[in-house]
Amino acid sequence: MAIHLQIVEHPADVALAAAQHVCAQIRERSDAVLGLATGSTPEATYAELVRNHRAGTLSFARVRSVNLDEYRGLDGLHEQSYRYYMRQHLFDQVDMLPWNALLLDGTAVDGAAECRAYEERIRALGGVDLWMLGIGGNGHIAFNEPGSSRESRTRCVALAPETIADNSRLFAVPAEVPRQAYTAGIATIMEARRILLLATGAHKAAAVAAALHGEVGAHCPASFLRGHADCTFVIDRQAASQLPGV
Ligand code: PGA
Repeated sequence: MAIHLQIVEHPADVALAAAQHVCAQIRERSDAVLGLATGSTPEATYAELVRNHRAGTLSFARVRSVNLDEYRGLDGLHEQSYRYYMRQHLFDQVDMLPWNALLLDGTAVDGAAECRAYEERIRALGGVDLWMLGIGGNGHIAFNEPGSSRESRTRCVALAPETIADNSRLFAVPAEVPRQAYTAGIATIMEARRILLLATGAHKAAAVAAALHGEVGAHCPASFLRGHADCTFVIDRQAASQLPGV
């Protein structure tokens, strides 16, 4: 169950390789269920998918999607919400049908019910075929920060102080910076049939090395991916720079 490792030269090559995996998945099954991620790493991959769509070689008309996480308290029209990000980088740029894109609702009145319903909706879709992930510098996947259990499910989590501080530059006033988020759990992610983790840059090198070669455990949530039957890390040379023998 070793992780497949695909090391490429530059961040642009990560985007090309990741887009190829996604394209292959959609060609294999036009109504594939994609698991999607936000953040700076996948932006170039989405741009590549949009380019394929505009070239007429890729259709999202039957694709369904689920996303990893969403800030609590932000609705989808807020520019920092992950729904907004997804519309900006993918959904509004391709022929994806809005009702086929499932995201956690940051404004849900009953957060626990929203999380339960999310798990049920993923199950009703038949599970995720390919889930694309980023990795945090601390080894987190989605908002499963260090300490998250292998058995964790979709839930509301408190954001780490460094995450709040990091996000504050994106918000007009400090009071607007979300303190909590909804996130798919590690067990939720591990149920995907295939997982694709993308990492670029030297600031991810220690987390990538810990995920692939450190002890498996909650101190590095990405290390749990080593227990998955079909997981590929697509990383650039810099993100690979702390791997033994690279
Ligand atoms: P990034 O975030 O792509 O913005 O580096 C990745 C993550 O924290 O999962």
